Order: sequence, then C-alpha cells, then structure tokens
Amino acid sequence: MALRIFRNISTSKPLGARLYSGEIRKCTLIPGDGIGPEISAAVQKIFATAKVPIDWESVDVTPVRGPDGKFGIPQAAIDSVNRNKVGLKGPLMTPVGKGHRSLNLALRKEFNLYANVRPCRSLEGYKTLYDEVDVVTIRENTEGEYSGIEHEIVDGVVQSIKLITEDASRRVAEFAFLYARDNNRKKVTAVHKANIMRMSDGLFLRCCREAAKKFPDVKFEEKYLDTVCLNMVQDPLQYDVLVMPNLYGDILSDMCAGLVGGLGLTPSGNIGLNGALFESVHGTAPDIAGQDKANPTALLLSAVMMLRYMELNKHAEIIERSCFQTIKEAKYLTGDLGGKAKCSEFTNAICEKIAAS
Ligand code: IPM
Ligand code: MG
Repeated sequence: MALRIFRNISTSKPLGARLYSGEIRKCTLIPGDGIGPEISAAVQKIFATAKVPIDWESVDVTPVRGPDGKFGIPQAAIDSVNRNKVGLKGPLMTPVGKGHRSLNLALRKEFNLYANVRPCRSLEGYKTLYDEVDVVTIRENTEGEYSGIEHEIVDGVVQSIKLITEDASRRVAEFAFLYARDNNRKKVTAVHKANIMRMSDGLFLRCCREAAKKFPDVKFEEKYLDTVCLNMVQDPLQYDVLVMPNLYGDILSDMCAGLVGGLGLTPSGNIGLNGALFESVHGTAPDIAGQDKANPTALLLSAVMMLRYMELNKHAEIIERSCFQTIKEAKYLTGDLGGKAKCSEFTNAICEKIAAS
C-alpha cells in the first residue's frame, strides 16, 4: 500500500513518531453497527496473531442526549480518542433525512480530522477492468457541502450552504502535497468546478495553486470534476494523488473504489493535527449482519494504514501481504468477491499466513 508517513503540517515531523515513541500503545476501537462488530473482531484476531503491540480500547458511540437536549457522541468515547490519539472505526448507521446527524461526520468534526485519505490500488489476482489502478483521493473533511447548514426559506424552498474557508482549503491542499512527497508520488490534481462555483471552488483552487508553489518537486494540475470522472473510468492510470472539496471526494472516492473491486476492499484514514481515525467506508450491511458473511478487508487495510501512521511498519507489512495473498489465492473469498467463504474462514486464512511468516 502506498501510504507511509503522515506528517504534522505545522512541524513537518512524522506524526506517528511524535505521538508513539513509547512502548504501550492504546488504540480506540469503535466496532460500529451491522457487520461492524464481526469485521472488528476479525481485525482484532489478525492483529493478535501478528502480535501487534497495541491494546484496543473498545468504545460505544451510540448517541446520548446532552444537557442541551441534542443527541451526540458519548463523552467516554470522545475522551478515549482524545487520550489515545488514534482509532479504528467500523461502519455506523446513519438515518436518512431524519433523526440524529451522521455520527460518521460528527466524529470527523469533533476531532477536526481535516484530511480524508483513500488509497485505491488494484489487487493482484482480483480481476477488474483495469490492472494497475493506483490513485489516492484526498478529501477535505470538515466543511464544504457537508457543513450541514440548511434551512427553509419559504414553504417549498430550501437552501443548503456550501462553506469553503481559506484555512481548511489550505491545510488540506498542503497535506496533499506533503502526502505526495512522502509517498514518492509524482503529481497532485486539484479537482474542482470553479467554472461554476467561482467563489467557493475558486478559493479552494487558489489554495491548491499556492500550496503547489511550495512543492516544486511535485507536479500540479487542475481538472474539472466531470472531466476527472470521465477520464477515471476510461484511463485511471493518468491520475496519481487527487485533492478536492468534501462532496466531490465522497463521490470520486467511491468511483475509484469501484475500479478496484468496491468499498469492501478500500481503506480510509481521517487525519487531523492531533490524531487520526481510520475507518472502512462501506455501509453497515444489515442484510448480512451477524451471519459471518462480511468481508473484513476494508477495515483490515484501514487498520494497516493506522499501523503505518503509528510507524509500526513491519507489522503493517506482514498483515497486508497476508491479506493480499489470501485474496490472490482466491480459495477463501467472501460473497462480495464472488466466493463462498465465511468471514471467519477468510480471517483464519490470513492468520495462517501470518503465523507462517
Ligand atoms: C464516506 C461515507 C460517509 C460520507 C457517510 C457514511 C456519512 O459515504 O465516508 O464516504 O458521506 O462521508
Ligand atoms: Mg462515501
């Protein structure tokens, strides 16, 4: 996997090293809803087999009613992430158009996890339309179309505000270039619609241009979102690292995942200045929950990203290799990958490889 070191933008020091020089490493675990608990258990089993030196601190994030009457993340979960600075999260159910706000988003906001990193790479042995996809989407994670500022002006007319700020745009743009440099990437593409949203996307684009000037060793280009979508399905190899506002990143990252086999295979990390939360971005799959059928790969590879963030590179390497080999051998594939294996059988196959290495 391409991900190596994340840096603190302000100090440019490897963040993992800064935070995790000690021996005892605790990580928060949010197992999540639906298939979340079973894929989390799979990751825990694989980590235990690989003797990863971390302690999991499992927390429940079921919303609780606060003093203001609003539902939010329980304080114990917030404290755990603030203490540990790193966490792994399974899928959380979001009610559509009613009830509490998405907890997935609330967590990103709460910890100011401003950059969402999603590497998308073709897996050897798992055949899709293209063999060598290797792109990374970096999505602004705190504002834009996801600001949640919506209101009704008059009956039948609603307005939703896309908030773009210079601070948030600049920090994610700089993150994208640092990421590119740290991971030997050649090019950053800013994805935008500044031809239509002249002020908001215009500001985002200006911040990307300014960041590009600070990184002359990384190639920079600007592309319209629709053009990128068209190119991505026709020739994804022309892209490398892509940086964009929140909603564009949500959509484009799913599209990229689709090119390599879907959301069951692709990892994700939400990175902030003071910590990070790694998560699978597929849904809770209630139809197969509790049946030992889910594919734990996306959560496992997110956990591998987490290990690299913590600079536990050797453990990351072994686990990742064992996972890729298991997929390549295609003997124990879960239903989403066209196989018949149970989640536990796939997990055991990975564990056997780790034990043998
Ligand atoms: C993602 C997901 C989330 C999003 C949902 C679950 C709120 O699709 O992480 O991409 O829209 O950001
Ligand atoms: Mg999404």
